[in-house]
Amino acid sequence: MTAAEKFKVTNLLNIASDSLFRGYYSSEKNYQLEDDAPPQSLLTANCSPLLSLEQIADEIRACINCPLCETRTNAAPGEGVTEPLVMVIGEGPGRDEDEQGRPFVGRAGQLLDKMLDSIGLSRNSNCFIANVIKCRPPNNRDPYPEETSACAHFLEQQIALLKPKFILVAGRIAAQTLLKTTEPIGKLRGKFTEFETGGMTIPLLVIYHPAALLRNEDLKRPTWEDLKLLRSRLDESKGKN
Ligand code: URA
Repeated sequence: MTAAEKFKVTNLLNIASDSLFRGYYSSEKNYQLEDDAPPQSLLTANCSPLLSLEQIADEIRACINCPLCETRTNAAPGEGVTEPLVMVIGEGPGRDEDEQGRPFVGRAGQLLDKMLDSIGLSRNSNCFIANVIKCRPPNNRDPYPEETSACAHFLEQQIALLKPKFILVAGRIAAQTLLKTTEPIGKLRGKFTEFETGGMTIPLLVIYHPAALLRNEDLKRPTWEDLKLLRSRLDESKGKN
């Protein structure tokens, strides 16, 4: 069986129980990959990664699993190094990211780069940057749960391949999606959580979204504290190796 065939079969098996999806997609158009295959669903924790990073990016760019495919200019699969110390996960592409097909390249992205740089991190040397959804929601509205569900397997596969040592989550939507919670971001930030995915346990830290920092200066100080916390955990882990 080829990797692509395995991927299809895995998806078919995983999809069987995804009733949320079925309700959503049974109406109106069929947002499906090809033939009559049901839309892709979450991969289970034990699924091994079947595609390369570039293959996942190709799948993302070709994806028609949710209505955002109709309004996107470009999907933004993610970018950075292939063995990242830190994987940064944001919400989803905005206007600039949609135009360029790259994550975090607008004003918030430039601030994110500066924040990372302040603690010795960069997408060019030791980070990979991605989002929970890969296509821009119209007018930058919050993604619908059906859209984050439709996209979740891409992020899971990216994490499984990249095996980041740490995950840094930017903003409420990404934090609530990954941690499967409705707790406010004020309660989620400022402490490490053990994030379990694909048989791995990865230390995860939530910070306020850089776009929120641009709107509210008061968030800068707690965010700086959070970045220092990450830096000290990185230093500790270096000492252990
Ligand atoms: N905001 C995000 O959450 N992600 C991006 O890629 C850009 C802005």
